[in-house]
Amino acid sequence: MSSERSAIILAAGLGTRMKSSKPKVLHEVLGRTLVGHVLRSVKAIGAARQIVVVGAAADQVREHLAEVAPEAETVYQDKQLGTGHAVSIAMDAHPDLKGTVVVAFGDAPLLRSSSIAELVEVHEKKGNAVTVLTAFVDDPTGLGRIVRDNEGNVLRNVEHRDADAEELAIREINSGTFACDADVLREQLARLSTANDQGEYYLTDILELAREAGHTVGAVVVDDPTETLGCNDRSQLAELRRILQGRINTELMKSGVTMDDPATTWIDATVKVAPDVTLRPGVQLKGATAVDSGAEIGPDTTLTDTIVGAGAVVVRSHADQAHIGQDAHVGPYAHLRPASKLAESAKVGAFVETKNAEIGRGAKANHLAYLGDATVGADANIGCGVITANYDGVHKHRTEIGEGAFIGCDSVLVAPVSVGDGAYVAAGSTIVKDVEPGDLAVARARQAALTDWVAKKRPGTVSDQAARRAKGEAGVAEA
Ligand code: UD1
Ligand code: CA
Repeated sequence: MSSERSAIILAAGLGTRMKSSKPKVLHEVLGRTLVGHVLRSVKAIGAARQIVVVGAAADQVREHLAEVAPEAETVYQDKQLGTGHAVSIAMDAHPDLKGTVVVAFGDAPLLRSSSIAELVEVHEKKGNAVTVLTAFVDDPTGLGRIVRDNEGNVLRNVEHRDADAEELAIREINSGTFACDADVLREQLARLSTANDQGEYYLTDILELAREAGHTVGAVVVDDPTETLGCNDRSQLAELRRILQGRINTELMKSGVTMDDPATTWIDATVKVAPDVTLRPGVQLKGATAVDSGAEIGPDTTLTDTIVGAGAVVVRSHADQAHIGQDAHVGPYAHLRPASKLAESAKVGAFVETKNAEIGRGAKANHLAYLGDATVGADANIGCGVITANYDGVHKHRTEIGEGAFIGCDSVLVAPVSVGDGAYVAAGSTIVKDVEPGDLAVARARQAALTDWVAKKRPGTVSDQAARRAKGEAGVAEA
C-alpha cells in the first residue's frame, strides 16, 4: 500500500550558537545549505507536499527556498515553543494532509535519502502510527534517548535533561526524523504538554502518547550514526563538512576518480566528476562544475560552475563560470573569470586573466596577458604581456582577433578593434585601428640611436668602460 506522503521540515530556530547574522539552516556544506541538503534527501520519498516551518529570519529562509526548492511551501512559527509546536503549526495550516507525514530537522544535512526511504517503507509496511529514526552513538550527551521494554518494543523518548541515571546510560538516540500517520499525528499533537524541564512542546512525546492511545509505534535504526548529526555551532559545521567530504570522495574514488590527497580535496555534492579524472592535492570543485574523463586538475585549483572537457589539464588556477575545452591547458596561475570559453586544445598559461573571452581551438596565451571581452581565433598566438583594453571608463568593448593571428609581446589592443585572420601585430604596439588580414601592424615609435652618447654624457662610468672594451679601444683595462 503506497499512501500519500508529505514532509515537514523544521527550520524556525535562529541557531544562536552559530553566532551569525545568517539563520543556521542557510549555512553551507559542500554546495548546499543545511536545509538544502535536507530537502534534497526528503525528495526520495516522493512527497506530494514539502512544508518548511520558518521563524527566525523567515524572509531570508523563504528567499533561499524560492531559489533552491520552489516546490516547497512555508509556514510561519512566530515563537519557537518546541518541536511539537512547530509541527502543530504546519499541520494546522494544512488540514488536508493525510497518509504519511515525515518530520525532519532543517539542520541535519547528513541524513541519506536511502535512510528516509527505508524509514517510510518500514513505517507503511508495518502499519505503524509513529516510527522514529534512531541511531546508536558513543556519546549521546544532549540528545533524546529511546526507551524500550525488555522485548525491545519502543516505549518513549526521554530528553537528556529530563532523563534519570538509568535513561542517561541509553546509547540509542532520537535522530529527530519521524514518520507519522497524519491523523494520529494531529490527534496526539493536540495532547502535548509542556511538563518538562524546558517547558516546551516536545514532538518526541507523541511516541508515548500514540502508544498509550493504542497505536503501534516503532523505530528504524540507521547503520551510520553520523547521519543523525545536527549542527549547533561552527565547529560542528566543520565536522559535518568533513564527514560529507569523506562520503563524496569515497564514492568518487569508487567510481574511478583518482585523488592524490582526499583530505585536501573538497568537492561539492552538486559537482560531477567522470571516471579517470585525476585530482591533485588542494582541489576545490564547486557548484555546477563538471569534469570530463581524463582531465587532470590541480594541485591547488578552485573551479566554480566550470565545465572541463576530456583530457584538459588545469594547474594551480582559479576559474568561475568558465568552459575549458577538451585537451585545453590552463595554468599554472591562470584566472578564468565568468564567460571564459576555451576551445579544444587552447592554452592559457601563467598569470593570464580572461573574462567574457572565447579562445579558439589551439590558440595560445601562454604568459602574462589580459583577455577581456575578446574573441581569439583558432591557432592565434597571443604574446607575453598582451592586453585587451576593453573598458573606456564607462562602457566595455570587444576585441576580435582572427584565426592564425600573431599578437606581438606587450601590445595593447584598444577595443573596439579587430585584428584580421593571419595578421601580425609588432611587439610593443598600441593598436587602435583595425588590422586587415595578412597585414603587419606596427604602432610604436621608431628606434633612434644617438651615436656615442655614453662616451659624451657618462664618461668614466662602468657603462663607458664596457662600451670602450667592446669597441676594442686601447688603454682600457680588462674588467
Ligand atoms: C531534538 C530532539 C531530540 C533529538 C535531537 C536530535 C525534541 C524535543 N528533541 O533536540 O530528541 O535527539 O533533536 O538532534 O524534539 N525547531 C523549530 N521550532 C521550534 C523548536 C525547534 O523549528 O519551536 C527546529 C530547530 O530550528 C531545529 C530543530 O527543530 O532545526 C530541532 O530543535 P532543537 O531545539 O535544536 O532540538 P534539540 O534540543 O536538538
Ligand atoms: Ca539541535
